[in-house]
Amino acid sequence: MRMFVSSRRVKRWQFIHLFATCFILSLMCFWTSFDNHILSHMKSYSYRYLINSYNFVNDTLSVKRNSEDMPSFQYLINHKEKCQAQDILLLLFVKTAPENYERRSAIRKTWGNEEYVRSQLNANIKTLFALGTPSNPLKREELQRQLAWEDEMYGDIIQQDFADSFYNLTLKLLLQFSWANTFCPHAKFLMTADDDIFIHMPNLVEYLQSLEQIGIQDFWIGRVHRGAPPIRDKKSKYYVSYEMYQWPAYPDYTAGAAYVISSDVAAKVYEASQTLNSSLYIDDVFMGLCANKMGIVPQYHVFFSGEGKTPYHPCIYDKMMTSHGHVQDLQKLWEDATDPEVKTISKGFFGQIYCRLIKIALLCRLTYVDTYPCRAAFV
Ligand SMILES: *[C@@H]1O[C@H](CO)[C@@H](O)[C@H](O)[C@H]1NC(C)=O
Ligand SMILES: *[C@@H]1O[C@H](CO)[C@@H](O)[C@H](O)[C@H]1NC(C)=O
Ligand SMILES: *[C@@H]1O[C@H](CO)[C@@H](O)[C@H](O)[C@H]1NC(C)=O
Repeated sequence: MRMFVSSRRVKRWQFIHLFATCFILSLMCFWTSFDNHILSHMKSYSYRYLINSYNFVNDTLSVKRNSEDMPSFQYLINHKEKCQAQDILLLLFVKTAPENYERRSAIRKTWGNEEYVRSQLNANIKTLFALGTPSNPLKREELQRQLAWEDEMYGDIIQQDFADSFYNLTLKLLLQFSWANTFCPHAKFLMTADDDIFIHMPNLVEYLQSLEQIGIQDFWIGRVHRGAPPIRDKKSKYYVSYEMYQWPAYPDYTAGAAYVISSDVAAKVYEASQTLNSSLYIDDVFMGLCANKMGIVPQYHVFFSGEGKTPYHPCIYDKMMTSHGHVQDLQKLWEDATDPEVKTISKGFFGQIYCRLIKIALLCRLTYVDTYPCRAAFV
């Protein structure tokens, strides 16, 4: 009797599942012309949660690369010797544009500062700014001269001869992975970051050191986008044609603003990047395709922020990893967030309760602010 009931239940459940799948498939087949925002998200989420197979990445986007159509760019500025030390915890790439001298300057004084990490955190990181060539022809020579000067001063720029622009971000990604693979394969972790974010280096380094101890592999962490649809609106900056990518959802990937991978993942992604069509210019999506081909899955870390800025509060600084959109306030935030006082505020019974309440108040809002999710208040 019991068996009977449960098998009936299974059948009914299977029927609902089948029905939902058919319904969604028919939506996907017949409604492609109604390609508005809501529908494309419905399609992509159903694809992500019902089908979730991306075998086509291997089959359709693979290219036979011979030396001719392989995009290959020359280094204009390079530092082959940068990674000579053996015990490098983190190789940190900052994606920056030639004209953003001020931002690089601020990063050198704050989270990108190798000397600070060595002396205060007892770890080796290597920071490199990844660049193409200035895309504005009127300013090209002058900017290039300034870059050469800047590199003379700091020795932390790598540059290849492709035009530095939004639509060439995938070329910049290839630059980073190929550099890491050639000159720094022994760094334990690799991170890539935008030049307008904030990284809480003490928290990140402590976290990575603990992972290094357990010899972690297949590690890929950041702000995960699940079942994101390609944008088919030609007016959007992120427009992707069907020719470039014909399916309703991208494989899961981490927001390009900041993510961290272990060295084995870096090697695999590099390998895949050599066999996939790199015309898809959204660099984090392309990285997701490469990782997917190698069977690597990203993990969501609640303290990697989305598009939004972190709420300014010591209880948040205690746990935060990254925050987005910091240019003017970078120095100030760095000082506040790395102040040793921060670590004392959440200590003890009352400290914990106080910070829990503050985090709930700051993160669990009814209006959506794309910083850290509400559940970050409970970890
Ligand atoms: C897909 O992957 C398999 C194994 O990873 C490989 O043997 C096959 O050649 C790949 N297909 C293409 C078109 O690259
Ligand atoms: C990307 O870089 C290549 C090589 O410099 C250049 O020909 C192309 O115009 C660039 N694309 C964009 C959109 O800037
Ligand atoms: C890569 O994809 C684009 C379409 O996005 C196509 O035009 C191009 O021919 C492909 N390249 C190769 C080498 O297959």
